Amino acid sequence: MFANTPVEKMFFAGRDIFLKRDDLLHPAFSGNKARKFAYFLAHEFAGIKKVIGHGSPQANSLYSLSALAKIKGWQCDFYVDHIASHILNHPSGNYAAAVENGANIIDLSRLGGRSSPNAGGRCQEYIEQQVLPYEPTALFIPEGGRCGYAEYGVSILAKEIVIWSKTNNISNLKVFLPSGTGTTALFLNQYFIREQTDIRVITCAAVGGDAYLRQQFSMLNSDISEHPQVVNVGKKYHFGKLYAELYTMWQRICASGVQFELLYDPLGFIVLEDYLQASDQGSVMYLHQGGLLGNDTMLPRYLRKFASDI
Ligand SMILES: Cc1ncc(COP(=O)(O)O)c(C=O)c1O
Repeated sequence: MFANTPVEKMFFAGRDIFLKRDDLLHPAFSGNKARKFAYFLAHEFAGIKKVIGHGSPQANSLYSLSALAKIKGWQCDFYVDHIASHILNHPSGNYAAAVENGANIIDLSRLGGRSSPNAGGRCQEYIEQQVLPYEPTALFIPEGGRCGYAEYGVSILAKEIVIWSKTNNISNLKVFLPSGTGTTALFLNQYFIREQTDIRVITCAAVGGDAYLRQQFSMLNSDISEHPQVVNVGKKYHFGKLYAELYTMWQRICASGVQFELLYDPLGFIVLEDYLQASDQGSVMYLHQGGLLGNDTMLPRYLRKFASDI
């Protein structure tokens, strides 16, 4: 259904790298989610009437789940720990687009009376214990699409990269991408190893630290020899917070003429720049995973905070 996104050249940190334009896959499924949710799009789910997810009210996955539900004719229930009042008063980006698609966004902090969880991370537990037993016709997708189903679509992406590298006679390709749950990086690297290719994945942790990321890999695959290489970010960045150097990097990479998103890509390119400077001249591909709708909320925040001094 979604296939073969183009590979372009990009000049970065003094050298040419390849850019896999997965952002061009489908407007409703930021590249990352199109791959992770491909299984659900390609298969029939008899008896399923609803999809249930959870995460941040600004998450790319909220919008993509709402789009999936719309295509499938399912209801979409998305649980969040909390919705900030400015989001409710001025809906934008992924949140607004999901509401437009008919998603039912449930704020657990407002569910009085029931044992509502009040901290992140307990959302999944709440759904599993208090929601799913009463929803026999619902399909549950864990936060960010971190589940075995993602292997299906990510393997299609991996195969495209293998075919491209063979066609272009590129050996020892390194595929670089920033990770959240690590699902995409893990299933890509696993595919490259199991298919006995010389392609390997290098990633960095955009959410949590390296130990958290490795733990996420292990939840999907306990064989650490198949895990991607994790490059340390060097500084603690809180996911979703605003940092001048991330904004500056975002401006630099967007000057290439391609739009990038503001949560993962700037950090990815900061880490990639260090990596390129420390490594030999081998071929490197950056995976553009889409997510541009999130800029509708991130960019105004950056402009409010830094417009005067950047
Ligand atoms: C644009 C973008 N980049 C990167 C990621 C991280 O992907 P993963 O959770 O598979 O590590 C996501 C997932 O939310 C994303 O939307």
